[in-house]
Amino acid sequence: DTNRPAVIGVVTASDRASAGVYKDESGPAIEAYLTSALTTPFRIERRIIPDGFESVRDTLIDLADTVGCDLVVTTGGTGPSPRDLTPEATLAACPRELPGFGELMRHVSLSQTPTAILSRQLAAHRGKCLVINLPGKPAAIELCLNAVMPAVPYCLDLIG
Ligand code: MTE
Repeated sequence: DTNRPAVIGVVTASDRASAGVYKDESGPAIEAYLTSALTTPFRIERRIIPDGFESVRDTLIDLADTVGCDLVVTTGGTGPSPRDLTPEATLAACPRELPGFGELMRHVSLSQTPTAILSRQLAAHRGKCLVINLPGKPAAIELCLNAVMPAVPYCLDLIG
């Protein structure tokens, strides 16, 4: 149904945010970005989950297959720490990667901080659902989404 509002998943992968040790700021920053950037109707499905392969993979599969998300934006778990498994989990849920997204987001982030080289963030799709990884830092949200959003509607057309 092309007339239904888009469904967008916003997933915060963080052991500490999901345990309530600190307040999630990146998920709300993604919501705020989408609300100001998108001109077509949409609704958001929020998830705050622990880091880890299974938790992220199963959340993405649920959002794509059961909730019917068109787009899922994740934040966190893209670094090199042992518990940072968001990219692996994304590829387990989404068989086909779109490497340009990760390349471009690291490129724009490197102009802001040299530690952007540490992010393994990527984008991939599971059928009609595009998943985009963002780093956990709130400062990365607007920068990365500004870089890739121009290509997202066309991408959704092509995979849909
Ligand atoms: N990208 C931007 N734009 N801004 C940042 O502050 N932080 C980096 C990197 N990318 C950062 C960034 C750091 S310090 C790390 S460890 C990696 O993202 C991974 O972060 P994550 O594990 O929270 O996803």
